[in-house]
Formats: sequence, structure tokens, C-alpha cells
Amino acid sequence: MARTKLVAGNWKMHGETAGNQALLDALKAGAATAKAAMAVCVPFPYLGQARAALAGTSIAWGSQDVSRHAQGAYTGEVCAAMLKDFECRYAIVGHSERRSYHGETDEVVAAKADAAIKSGLVPIICVGETLAEREGNITAAVITRQLDAVIASIGAAGLAKSVVAYEPVWAIGTGKTASPEQAQEVHASIRARVAKEDANVAAGLQILYGGSMKPNNAKELMAQPDIDGGLIGGAALVAADFLAICAAA
Ligand code: 13P
Repeated sequence: MARTKLVAGNWKMHGETAGNQALLDALKAGAATAKAAMAVCVPFPYLGQARAALAGTSIAWGSQDVSRHAQGAYTGEVCAAMLKDFECRYAIVGHSERRSYHGETDEVVAAKADAAIKSGLVPIICVGETLAEREGNITAAVITRQLDAVIASIGAAGLAKSVVAYEPVWAIGTGKTASPEQAQEVHASIRARVAKEDANVAAGLQILYGGSMKPNNAKELMAQPDIDGGLIGGAALVAADFLAICAAA
């Protein structure tokens, strides 16, 4: 099955109104050169700004997290319905920074993916191993454990409405990138795990790579058969770099 490519920017906790506007305007101006679908996942306070700038363009927007709760007394949380209200398409769930700094377990991540889908958002579900886990030769076990929790929660039917992102923790923001072969091996294993549930869903699943993807390595990574795009951190803050990655897809 031919899968389309997606390049999503994760701005993380960066931005202010004027700088965001310049970045969004530059992305809009350059979108015609993109060979992939484009999206930006911005901090919550700037979702309205992203919507105002991007509505009617080919660029989608989304959040970097979502509550697992539908509504209620959860101070500080933002639920999926609110994100839908801002016309988000995507919500990143289970980013390694959420898992490690905010104690999000596999089960919490799976519940967030479920909440996103129930509101009509597309969760970008992040999985990935730490350096110690890779060096301990348990990468496959870690990815399988993370995926199994998601499958237990949303099943193949939910994965049909999701995007998965493989983000090796040791490659995030470090300038170290997984080699195309290393990334391809994990992407293929993710697709194989999903195929055990449903071969058609597996064949259609977009699996993005994230971790120091830059203009100079994007093409080689995205040329791998199971790498369907990128989840971009640092390079998403520089319009020319993000556009170059989108053009390399
Ligand atoms: P970098 O591209 O800065 O390594 O970040 C990757 C990432 O965490 C995207 O979610």
C-alpha cells in the first residue's frame, strides 16, 4: 500500500507571538515545495494563532499533549474536545519528554491516545528506547511493551486512526541520529507488531522517525521503506530547515 509521507514539527516549549507568526508565514509561503503533508504541533497558548495562520492552507496543526480525561476537575489539563474546538488535527502523545519528566506510563499514554481518537483527533503516538536500553539490547522489548499497551487500549481499529512516531531517546536533541538502517529495523518491527493484529492497518500505518532529523539526513531516512516521514524538533523552529525536510520527503 502506498503511504503518503507526513512531516510534523514539534515546537516543544519554544515560541512567542511575533516569532511564531514569522515562522508560520514562512511555512505557508514555502508549502508548495513540500513533497510531504505538513503539520506543526505548537504550545497550547498558540493553537489559536496557528489556526488563524493556517486555516485554509495545506498545513495542519496540533498539540503536544492531551489529557486522558474528557473534562472535569483536572487543573492545568487540556482535553481532546478543546483541541478539536481549535480545529487541531493531531495531538502528540507519549513523547519521551512527557514519559520521563512527567512520569507518563505506557498505560497513561495509551489512555491519551484513546481520548484523542474519541474526539476525532489523530494521535501521534511516540515510542522509543533510551541509550541504556539500546546498549542493553532491549530496544525491541521496550518498543513492543510500549506498543502493546497502546494496542490493548485502542486496538487495530484505533491504530487505523493514529500515527506512530519512533523517537530513540538518545537521538532527541543530541545531534545523534539513528542510522537509516537502525531506524528502518525498528520501523519494520513496529509494522510487524501491528500486522499481527491487522495486516491492512499495518500496511497503511504512517510511522514517523524523530530524533535529530535535519535537512542533511532527512532524505536518506525517509527513503527507507518503513519510514513515512518525520517528527521534527529543533529543525522545526527554522523555516528553511523544516521546509527543506518537507521537500526531501
Ligand atoms: P529533535 O529533532 O530536536 O532531535 O527532536 C525530536 C523530537 O523530539 C520531536 O518530537
